[in-house]
Amino acid sequence: MRVLSRFLAAATDVSHFPAPDLPEIAFLGRSNVGKSSLLNSLVGTKIARTSSTPGRTRGINFFEIRFAGQPRPEMIFSDLPGYGYAKLSREISQEWPKFIEPYLRERPTLVLCLALVDVNVPPQESDRQLLTFLQASQRKFVVVATKSDRLSNNQLRNALRVLSQEYPAALLLPYSATSGTGRAELWKEIRAAAVQGPASRATGQRFPVSANSD
Ligand code: GTP
Ligand code: MG
Repeated sequence: MRVLSRFLAAATDVSHFPAPDLPEIAFLGRSNVGKSSLLNSLVGTKIARTSSTPGRTRGINFFEIRFAGQPRPEMIFSDLPGYGYAKLSREISQEWPKFIEPYLRERPTLVLCLALVDVNVPPQESDRQLLTFLQASQRKFVVVATKSDRLSNNQLRNALRVLSQEYPAALLLPYSATSGTGRAELWKEIRAAAVQGPASRATGQRFPVSANSD
């Protein structure tokens, strides 16, 4: 499956959001966890900017996703700024109430949140807070355990066990943007969510998404 992506908008305010007419997938997690790298890995191009310096992504960046051979775009990916990085936390704490929280709470087309956690790092309070917030907002989410390539099979198994104990209600998928491990599984979840549309919290409308072909 070849994916064609196009940058749509960078938003630092609710008024910058693109029109909500395609199912949207949000990439969320602490600074440096690998949100932009995951997006690039799924799409197969370096469309989102990545960096080893935390805080690379400052606004919400929206990307239109189209599958090769399909006449219309299928969905939107939204790459969000990270949280939990000490140096930035003041700014982030000012930005979240301004446009990120409203986005997560109110965006009618948001069908799935990818909540990224670094599988090399023990569960963090800020991640718990995000997942609690998503649950309270009745958002559908998947926990993506990033940078799985940095662990041996044994270490990875143990780390995933710890995470699944921490987040028992969540679907947990290991991922490596470096090797592509987990890519097919995650695409399956994304496409299923896009077809299903938003949870009943929203209008209940279905999206005009065509049947998927791989
Ligand atoms: P912010 O935008 O600053 O919040 O960061 P981000 O979550 O978008 O992280 P980004 O994708 O920029 O990646 C941060 C660093 O982690 C970069 O140095 C990436 O190369 C590295 N990285 C991301 N994913 C992986 C992975 O799967 N494996 C390995 N080994 N490194 C990764
Ligand atoms: Mg980023």
